[in-house]
Amino acid sequence: MTWGEGFCQNSTMVKGRGYICQNCGYRSSGWLGRCPQCGEWGTFQGEEEKKGGPSAGERSLLHEPPTPLSQISTEEVRLQTSMEEFNRTLGGGVVMGSVILFGGAPGVGKSTLMLQVLHELAKRGTRCLYISGEESLRQVALRARRLGVKGPDLSVMSSACLEEITEEVKKLSPEVLVVDSIQAISSERIPSGAGSVVQVREVASRLTQLAKSQGMAAFLIGHVTKEGAIAGPRVVEHMVDVVLYMERRQDSPYCILRAAKNRFGSTNEVGVFEMGERGLKEVPNPSELFLSERPEGSPGSVVMPSMEGTRPILVEIQALVAPAVGGYPRRTAMGIDYNRLLLLVGVLERRVGVNLSHHDLFVNVAGGMRVEETAGDLAVAVAILSSHLDRPLPSGMVVFGEVGLTGEVRGVGYGRERVAEAARLGFRRCLLPRNTARGIGSRGGVELVGIREVREVIKVLERGG
Ligand code: TYD
Ligand code: MG
Repeated sequence: MTWGEGFCQNSTMVKGRGYICQNCGYRSSGWLGRCPQCGEWGTFQGEEEKKGGPSAGERSLLHEPPTPLSQISTEEVRLQTSMEEFNRTLGGGVVMGSVILFGGAPGVGKSTLMLQVLHELAKRGTRCLYISGEESLRQVALRARRLGVKGPDLSVMSSACLEEITEEVKKLSPEVLVVDSIQAISSERIPSGAGSVVQVREVASRLTQLAKSQGMAAFLIGHVTKEGAIAGPRVVEHMVDVVLYMERRQDSPYCILRAAKNRFGSTNEVGVFEMGERGLKEVPNPSELFLSERPEGSPGSVVMPSMEGTRPILVEIQALVAPAVGGYPRRTAMGIDYNRLLLLVGVLERRVGVNLSHHDLFVNVAGGMRVEETAGDLAVAVAILSSHLDRPLPSGMVVFGEVGLTGEVRGVGYGRERVAEAARLGFRRCLLPRNTARGIGSRGGVELVGIREVREVIKVLERGG
């Protein structure tokens, strides 16, 4: 869009009203070429008037008169699926009447998981409706067949029109509704295209009202694009009861389902799934899975009890330090933050005295997992030192802790849970911050090796055993 075009078009269309950035939702009273919030160019469009606005019937959908608090029923009806990982993430099942925003990158497995969940629910006699705004019924059926989802009790519908969907939902009154995706649906009342901020907000708000008035649970699927561009699910997070995000590292079959917001439970819950030929399968025991192919006794391999929410999961962090062939040494981080890796390399060079300036360095979290917490620092540092010195870790040892810029090893949370998970999987030693070790005492026969400085790692590696 050129300057002239954008300005003329919008100024005549929406004289006197505001303008909205279609990328991030920033509002401005005048048209702007570049958004001051997200920095995108040519994204401002007039905030157009709704044709008609909500009808009297719709407005009263959510109207509930003042009532003494004590007289309001707080009974919660939860639907359970046989996928425990899914129930757990939601805080114990799907609450009837709730609206769940389900976000994730395209291709992560959102449609697949929703079809499987609906199938589960429909099998138990729940009335379910799946609406696809992106695929034809044939495409949906083909996918369903591949997943082994037949389900005479599961209705599917293909439509991208909000008014059409509302009408069908009222007729069919399903107990669980899935709308795939909110970016594909648009309301006839709003002239801007599907996927724009205005549309996505309107669609989400009207579907929310519909769900509340019908007492049905509604899943709204939203695509999160890489740059968070074009009206991602974030613009409607405040409207819904639960926000779930699904993550998968590229090339990895393992997905993590996380609750980012939950009005009916904790936001710390995560579920782990594996994408296979026939859809998603739960991984009830992720630690065992991630360690199953671990090369024991190899230099550069370190097991770390990481936390996914309140759940400890053992992951393997691998490092490879190899002489650089001429030029600039390479640093590659997969599954951990790149800048964090550079920081740790700096600390190892200055505080431990190892010279990595002529070495390439690769760090990977096996199984396609990600470690975002600072508690991974010490494990990464140990993996690098172990590879560099070509000395494996003492057998049966796990490692966690934060590393500071002066080379100090700092305490981290959930010490007990981490050590308990290590003990459960048969580990006998744990290298950890001394402060954390003091706080937990001995656990399940695991020997705690508390350290204060990252340079003490060298002694641990030399001791071996
Ligand atoms: P999909 O559910 O379509 O993703 P989303 O709705 O989040 O965009 O999942 C698509 C990916 O999953 C695609 O890359 C193919 C893969 N897949 C499998 O590996 N096995 C399966 O059984 C199915 C249905 C999909
Ligand atoms: Mg999809």
